[in-house]
Amino acid sequence: MAKLTLKDIDLKDKTVLVRADFNVPQDAALKITDDTRIRATLPTLKYILENGARKLVLISHLGRPDGKPVEKYSLKPVAARLKELLGQDVLFLNDCAGPAIKQEIDKAKERVILLENLRYHAEEEANDSNFAKQLASLADVFVNDAFGTAHRAHASTEGVTHFLKSAAGFLLEKEIKYLGDAVKNPQKPFMLILGGAKVSDKIGVIENLLPKCDAIIVGGGMAYTFLKAQGKEIGNSKLEKDKLELAKSILDKAKQLNKEILLPVDNLVVDKIDPNAKGEIVGESIPEGKIAVDIGPKTIKLFQDKLSQAKTIIWNGPLGIFEMDAFSSGTREVAKFISTLKAVTIIGGGDTAAAVAKFKLEDKMSHISTGGGASLEFLEGKTLPGIAALTEKS
Ligand code: 3PG
Repeated sequence: MAKLTLKDIDLKDKTVLVRADFNVPQDAALKITDDTRIRATLPTLKYILENGARKLVLISHLGRPDGKPVEKYSLKPVAARLKELLGQDVLFLNDCAGPAIKQEIDKAKERVILLENLRYHAEEEANDSNFAKQLASLADVFVNDAFGTAHRAHASTEGVTHFLKSAAGFLLEKEIKYLGDAVKNPQKPFMLILGGAKVSDKIGVIENLLPKCDAIIVGGGMAYTFLKAQGKEIGNSKLEKDKLELAKSILDKAKQLNKEILLPVDNLVVDKIDPNAKGEIVGESIPEGKIAVDIGPKTIKLFQDKLSQAKTIIWNGPLGIFEMDAFSSGTREVAKFISTLKAVTIIGGGDTAAAVAKFKLEDKMSHISTGGGASLEFLEGKTLPGIAALTEKS
């Protein structure tokens, strides 16, 4: 990439400001339930510490506190987890900007300092220039490792780059490499697996990648709007009525371009969505009153046969309600299958990453993106402001 990266900058005796995405899930007791995003940024943090930086100042958001302090969105639990993962003390400061914070950073004996949630200040999301300047004043150089937030033009992702030399961290670089290569230079056959509840969430990805890919495999809630568009009965399954015409036009366009779109040929259906509901397998036509909650065994086989030819696979969106064990077979069997292939396998963030983690297949995929919205926007071909704003290599 033509942007500065961590290895291009001299860290010796510098105070380094790192924007991370520590927006991690927590339970009601504020215990972190998945620390993937914290662990994913460790190579960057360790490299900075091992290469002579004076101090490492970490900034992030957590949740959407809407510009004011909200206790449940405090980053304090992240400081405790970071201390365990880095094996060194982490000072937590209860704000992220202002002269007092700058002083505390300067006099801190700890080398690693985590500042409180950026979104406690409305100026962060407003990309306020003064706020960005205040963040920049805390350090000598800026490193963005927050791929998950790179689609937001906020003070800590975009604004700050106007005041400091700004480089991509290793995680950001890795995400751009995997997603970028797959989109620009995929080894063919290149296939997409799309699922999740809504067609509307995936339209941009389909429009951008349909001309480039060889086949699109569709499951999950969004499949039923496509089946309905083909005139099939879908019972009470998920339907986006206002997207029927769009689904038809996507199917027509695929035909014109000679690209295959594979849809479920059998389904697991229930009377109501309940983890203990008794399911039955039906064909592609779903009886009145029934709700499809997973793809059936013939569909799993159909999808696996197609995917066996792929050299590059991007997967975004589960193929059924995988959170409920009884409805997780489709997502699990397809995940297990692609994990055995000699293909580049890229998992879009959010639910699909959670599914792959649930099936303990994380180590068997080429890349699991830490970005939900960010990875979708990348696959839609959009420019992500957090990446675009980084300093160009000279
Ligand atoms: C995410 O979880 O997708 C990122 O942290 C961005 O969060 P946001 O959608 O609240 O901006």
